[in-house]
Amino acid sequence: MKSIRSIRIAAIASVALLGGLSAAALRQDAASPLPKPATSGGMSLTEALAKRRSCTAYSNKPLTSDQIGQLCWAAQGITEPTRGFRTAPSAMALYSIRVYVVDSAGVHEYLPKEHALKTLRADDLVAGLQALVAKPAGLGGATTAMILGMNLAPLAERAGPRAEKFAAMEAGHIAENVLLQATALGLGSIPVGGFDEAKVHDLLKLPEGIRPVYILPLGTPKG
Ligand SMILES: Cc1cc2nc3c(=O)[nH]c(=O)nc-3n(C[C@H](O)[C@H](O)[C@H](O)COP(=O)(O)O)c2cc1C
Repeated sequence: MKSIRSIRIAAIASVALLGGLSAAALRQDAASPLPKPATSGGMSLTEALAKRRSCTAYSNKPLTSDQIGQLCWAAQGITEPTRGFRTAPSAMALYSIRVYVVDSAGVHEYLPKEHALKTLRADDLVAGLQALVAKPAGLGGATTAMILGMNLAPLAERAGPRAEKFAAMEAGHIAENVLLQATALGLGSIPVGGFDEAKVHDLLKLPEGIRPVYILPLGTPKG
């Protein structure tokens, strides 16, 4: 199974050969396609509901790109291409939550239309993130975390004072999709809301206007 880093290197190398651009220039903008997600089969929903439990200790085994792709799809994958509807419901279908993946290769944004990850920063910030997450669980040694970030401005224009409530509800729907998908893949996670938004925003250098509201450590449960 390929890691995000090896997929990115292959994508950068092939585009650089075709277009004659430098890898340094591409690193900012290139998106790495994720493996096609499974849309049927696997553990039943009933079993995943029965088995889901918050996990607080993970092995240091990195996730495969198949697992990362499946988890991103569960979060915000497009399931109705004509209108762009996704796996999770969305207030006014404005899709006010952005999905970021943090791992040793960097900070990546999930692009639902492309089912790809775009690397925003190629720095390993996992330990820094661990330090910002509330004890006792923290990231529990997970090598990967998904961050759900609110993009409130477009929703606020339409929903006014209800925007924040709607976006928080949407983050909850997405988080539960991811928790159940992780369970179905034999992985662990926990929804973490106990952190300082501004510090996480600064560490990850998330785009302006994005408020990180949920952190979902992801990995193989230890023991
Ligand atoms: C909105 C929300 C915020 C949470 N924040 C944290 C947190 O900051 N740290 C933590 O260890 N667990 C956090 N949790 C996880 C809960 O502690 C956990 O869901 C609860 O103990 C029930 O266990 P279960 O998820 O295994 O059913 C949060 C859960 C929710 C729904």
